[in-house]
Amino acid sequence: MSSAPRSDRKPVSLTKLAEMRALGEPIVMVTAYDHPSALVVEQAGVDVVLVGDSAANNVLGYADTVPVTVEELLMLAAAVRRGLNAPLLVGDLPFGSYEASDAQAIDTAHRFVKEAGCDAVKLEGGGASAERARAIVRAGVPVMGHVGLTPQTATALGGYRAQGRTAERARRVLDDALALQEAGCFAIVFEAIPAEVTDAIMPHMEIPVIGIGAGSSTDGQVLVLHDLLAIHDGFKPKFVKRYADVKAAMVAGVEAYAQEVRTRAFPGPEHAYGIAPEELERLREQLPPHRTAV
Ligand code: KIV
Repeated sequence: MSSAPRSDRKPVSLTKLAEMRALGEPIVMVTAYDHPSALVVEQAGVDVVLVGDSAANNVLGYADTVPVTVEELLMLAAAVRRGLNAPLLVGDLPFGSYEASDAQAIDTAHRFVKEAGCDAVKLEGGGASAERARAIVRAGVPVMGHVGLTPQTATALGGYRAQGRTAERARRVLDDALALQEAGCFAIVFEAIPAEVTDAIMPHMEIPVIGIGAGSSTDGQVLVLHDLLAIHDGFKPKFVKRYADVKAAMVAGVEAYAQEVRTRAFPGPEHAYGIAPEELERLREQLPPHRTAV
């Protein structure tokens, strides 16, 4: 299924992630939504790639992650699969594709594995989601959990804001994480919770925890590729660090192209195809006479 260039790296397995956690080796996770980005993150040597439902806002132009469909994410995930060799590929189950029943959750998870070639899926929340996670794991698909700020249900959480900022709410994050761990998840994302709360929860975790805005004591970190490279310059959450300014470079490149087209500096002779002089001569002989303007 994959047309990715061959890499010398061994594929990252679930066992490898557990070993990294045990050895204290930080796990690097990042999102990707298309083939060129997959080639970039593969070459950069990341461990885990998430086809996040954040594709909704980052590449599909939706206001939030709620509207994105299974079909849309499957198409993006399949494109990423074709660019990846070594990293573990995780597909995000979109809102409304797993909550209704275990059967629905298993069916959607199987589609991500069979149709897009994902190695695992991710779902958001504890509670009923932990039961869905258990069902999917039993059906043979590894599951990554996601607690704290869960964007699919941000409205119910009071908006896009840090979670676990009171003892009761922090306790709820712990309970959700423990439920997902007990359900058989191989890893969990902690999003937007105070670093001290993460520090307090970490000793209770036996599986890799990947943080995003959750401090530095997690077993790894995840960022959205479009945030860390500034591929767009919209809202920047507090936890994002920019490592490049790709949008600025793209705008500058397109502006330079437009300017050269308008001044006829592009294309140059080096961008043009040639024809043998005798063929050109023969063509000229066949051309009708020029029309003269009346
Ligand atoms: O969809 C996404 O990008 C995510 C990450 C923030 C973990 O869920």
